[in-house]
Amino acid sequence: MKTNINIFDCKMMKRIAIFASGRGSNALKIIEHFQEHNQIEVSLIVSNKNKALVLNVADRFNIAKLVINRDDFYRSDATLEYLKSHNIDFVILAGFLWLVPLDMINYFNKRMLNIHPALLPKYGGKGMYGMNVHRAVKDAGEQETGITIHYVDPEYDEGQIVFQAKCQVNENDTPESIAQKIHELEHRHYPTVIEHTIRSTFGI
Ligand code: GRF
Repeated sequence: MKTNINIFDCKMMKRIAIFASGRGSNALKIIEHFQEHNQIEVSLIVSNKNKALVLNVADRFNIAKLVINRDDFYRSDATLEYLKSHNIDFVILAGFLWLVPLDMINYFNKRMLNIHPALLPKYGGKGMYGMNVHRAVKDAGEQETGITIHYVDPEYDEGQIVFQAKCQVNENDTPESIAQKIHELEHRHYPTVIEHTIRSTFGI
């Protein structure tokens, strides 16, 4: 719980919305990272699955949740209007598989990041998510893989790259062990890259 935050601090807070649809391990790390922060806070968790584990994480930390459906997301501006009305400054995708609508991408131009579990531009694009990526890396006999954090643009996994980190793939590695290495890299780097990007975006 935050304590000793005065009204001035609250007004200056940059507010993050995390979009996630899975178990939310990255969301958890991001929330923990900003929990005691006095300039940046996670204010909203958005998910397209009403049973996603990430919603339990939101409950644990008393963070507002929004569950969206396809119609609202693609055929109306309801989600964008919701983000605006909640004064969201920055959007973080962390395991969110739907393509983000253009009006939202434009509104959050250079204020929306995604994390991809490979070294883009390799192993990106439609269908390349989760274990599909790690299996493809293993099948190709790659000796290294990694993570890519990038701005979101209208195409899957094609926005400007902000940060990459690598790890080795050994002969003994399986797609599962690769997945574990990748999650460790994500957890180590995503929160700090988010903080750095938000700081330089807003000059704070
Ligand atoms: C992460 O591996 C991320 O790279 C990808 O989706 C996964 C989400 O995992 N975009 P989690 O739900 O944060 O555990």
